[in-house]
Amino acid sequence: MRQPLVMGNWKLNGTKASVEALIKGLVDPAANASNVTVAVCPPAVFLDQVERLTQGTAIKFGSQDADIHENGAFTGENSPVTLKEFGCTYALVGHSERRTLHAESDQVIAEKYAAVQKGGLLPVLCIGETLEQFEAGQTNQVVETQLKAVIDRNGVESLADAVIAYEPVWAIGTGKTATPEIAQNVHAHIRNYLKGFNAEIAAKVQILYGGSVKGANAKGLFGMEDIDGALVGGASLQADEFASIIEGAK
Ligand code: PGA
Repeated sequence: MRQPLVMGNWKLNGTKASVEALIKGLVDPAANASNVTVAVCPPAVFLDQVERLTQGTAIKFGSQDADIHENGAFTGENSPVTLKEFGCTYALVGHSERRTLHAESDQVIAEKYAAVQKGGLLPVLCIGETLEQFEAGQTNQVVETQLKAVIDRNGVESLADAVIAYEPVWAIGTGKTATPEIAQNVHAHIRNYLKGFNAEIAAKVQILYGGSVKGANAKGLFGMEDIDGALVGGASLQADEFASIIEGAK
């Protein structure tokens, strides 16, 4: 059985006050969902605060990115080792905003994934096609290429200590969610593709859906066989809305 995981990606949002209110608002929903793992990914500057606020709660957390290097002359970056020291369990790797706005290639992402695992964190590998690729019917091919780069670099066995998040770029922050059927088809394709490498890993790996998930559509998505949770952007910034997504995963 794969445990559902509901993860919030706060992106570049938050103040000390809003972080405190949000975490406090998630303590009970997380505690009352014992079969669901609840996690948040704040901007790195809030990690210390989030670590303190989540102590003794069921809320886990992670970073939104990590550098390839452990230390050195890499201005503005965060080391996987530091992120681990600050209590992160997870690190997002290859979010579409990193791929597009920061020109991260599949190869860079495969290196980040390796660095994150070496640092003792679980990478949440984000993959997904653009609208153009979706309309051209290239979704399966795109996610295969994105996965293959990580498998080539790290081996399929590395996915035993990782999470996959399928996030169609056209659904991120647009209010357009993939229907449960569209998402399920891609998730099943991902699992099937991985099966060609290792059936046991394919059966066990959590595959989250991301892209305009909210309370109102979460349950339909989570009802699908190969959807094991969600990576949530906008709706994770409001405790009540995020709590209703957690509720949908129970
Ligand atoms: P969204 O973002 O829920 O705001 O669409 C999802 C994501 O980017 O992870």
